[in-house]
Amino acid sequence: MGRITTEGQYREHYDWSLNKNEEYWQNVAKELHWFKDFDSVQTGNFKDLNVKWFEGGQTNISYNCLDRHLKDRGDKVAVIYEANDPKVEAKKITYKELHQQVCQFANVLKDQGVKPGDRVCFYMGMVPELLTGILACTRIGAVHSVVFGGFSAKALAGRIQDCEASVLVTNDGSFRGGKTIALKAIANEALKDCPTIKKVLVSKRTNENIEADARDIDLDELLKNASSECEATPLDSEAPNFILYTSGSTGKPKGLLHTVAGYMTYAYHTFRNVFQMEENDIYWCSADIGWITGHTYLTYGPLLNGATTVMFEGVPTWPDAGRFWQVIDKLKVSHFYTAPTAIRALEACDIKFVQEANLSSLKVLGSVGEPINEEAWDWYHKNVGREKCPIVDTWWQTETGGIMISALAGVTKDIPTYATLPQPGIEPVLMDADGNEISTLAAQGNLCIKRPWPGIARTVYGDHERYKDTYFSAYPGYYFTGDGAKRDEQGNYRITGRVDDVINVSGHRIGTAEVEDAINQHPSVVESAVVGFPHNIKGQGIYAYVILSDEIAEDELKTQINNVVNEMIGPIAKPDAIQITPGLPKTRSGKIMRRILRKIAANELDNFGDTSTLLNPEIVDSLIKGKK
Ligand code: WTA
Repeated sequence: MGRITTEGQYREHYDWSLNKNEEYWQNVAKELHWFKDFDSVQTGNFKDLNVKWFEGGQTNISYNCLDRHLKDRGDKVAVIYEANDPKVEAKKITYKELHQQVCQFANVLKDQGVKPGDRVCFYMGMVPELLTGILACTRIGAVHSVVFGGFSAKALAGRIQDCEASVLVTNDGSFRGGKTIALKAIANEALKDCPTIKKVLVSKRTNENIEADARDIDLDELLKNASSECEATPLDSEAPNFILYTSGSTGKPKGLLHTVAGYMTYAYHTFRNVFQMEENDIYWCSADIGWITGHTYLTYGPLLNGATTVMFEGVPTWPDAGRFWQVIDKLKVSHFYTAPTAIRALEACDIKFVQEANLSSLKVLGSVGEPINEEAWDWYHKNVGREKCPIVDTWWQTETGGIMISALAGVTKDIPTYATLPQPGIEPVLMDADGNEISTLAAQGNLCIKRPWPGIARTVYGDHERYKDTYFSAYPGYYFTGDGAKRDEQGNYRITGRVDDVINVSGHRIGTAEVEDAINQHPSVVESAVVGFPHNIKGQGIYAYVILSDEIAEDELKTQINNVVNEMIGPIAKPDAIQITPGLPKTRSGKIMRRILRKIAANELDNFGDTSTLLNPEIVDSLIKGKK
């Protein structure tokens, strides 16, 4: 079926995908390699929650990313690695070389006793071994769980314990701009509480001194000596592919489980349609592999399509705020995919950085992770895209596996601040306050998806009940996204943001409950409540209200709370503002009225709506007076 190249074709595909859903996906899937054909396309539904795709089939995503291209694209560059240090020459890895490296890594894992279904945790910087490592897992049917290198020891330990990983792959340290992060020291701390880990494979990056753990093994040495031949293992379509943890509105982070064939098919099809790459184009997704974007659109999507993908170790503002633009010029990047928070951060820097760059190689720009405000969209379009590059504003989630709502670059129309139209096979609906589908086109409501698509996460690892509760209980029979959206007369969607207790800080999902749990560890904190508020660069910032048992100077408290949040979660969850308060607005049933806290944090100090159910209405004035 190939890629969609005209607006008319998009309409045809979309109608086809809804009218003959199974036929449509069968056609897409058949373009990939199967060791054994599937018997059925899709079974199960959003009521029994036992959705399966391509059952009876056997395939391998690493085979489809690598081996499938060796004949025609063996010498084509698969990955361009741009290190943190701009003086270091970019490393080009061809498909043939990547295949060899992945095979070597797979052999190392096998030699260390890793079996199909075993969980392997990665806690690394953006180094090539992270990319080859996850592909190596999928090659032998091991399940990767990548933990972002900015998480704390406690957060890492929690994720390892939850999935009972048997191997941890890490670096001595990682480079991030002018800083280094002592990954191994943090991992050692975590490892004290991780008895399931049998082996720790350590690759050197920063060459700092590290304290050895009895389970340590020198990964670089093993890779050097490993055979570069390793057949891909045929895996059942619904075999687990990877687990990725993300925050929810309650409790600890959830390990979303994606399976092999459906995820692969969806990543493959959405990548080619949304980004519209030609054979010699160069694609750069600036996300870290620790997030879903780095999984689907840095690694799997591009490689499944035989594209050239850039992997960048550094940060946008080091050595200066021109780094992104210098890399685009240096590598002749044609497709650039980044987050609104990065755009806003660079917009706040001297305009000369972007103006001095050439940027003539760019054809397509992308945005992901949070709603992109109009000002940032315009700046991106004008200064980076030089008014000639379409912008794809791609809405999706860790749970969805791939892009759900987005323009197709240059094919369907982009509209500032709108994600626009659903991808083939995706049937979004808006729900009203009574839980019914809104049938008029122009509307606003909670965003749900009405039918299964191949890329949906199949469960929360080890807790299928939580999967049901979180995504399928608010609107039975529908997948509930947790986002609100508006739809215009033409059916274009505009995502308005989370409607649950999840804050989107710089494109990273942070559960308010998680931050509260961390803050409550402080010995003087009696109770806390955390809400999001609008933040110029981060999109949303974290605002914490705390009730104390004894008096502490504010500065001191701030440092202590930051430390405890750092320790429990990591620096990304540090509050931007902390307000000490004698109480919190509570209903008679003891529930915190967060609506009021959000309004105060956002500096909307009037019109609090109905506060008659508050047990302590007088607290509102006191909260306003203490506003930070
Ligand atoms: C938000 C990232 C508006 C949304 C791929 C979603 C967006 C959450 C967009 C998922 C977008 C992501 N426009 N909001 N283009 N993309 N979001 O799991 O609130 O890290 O629910 O996946 O980010 O975040 P996650």
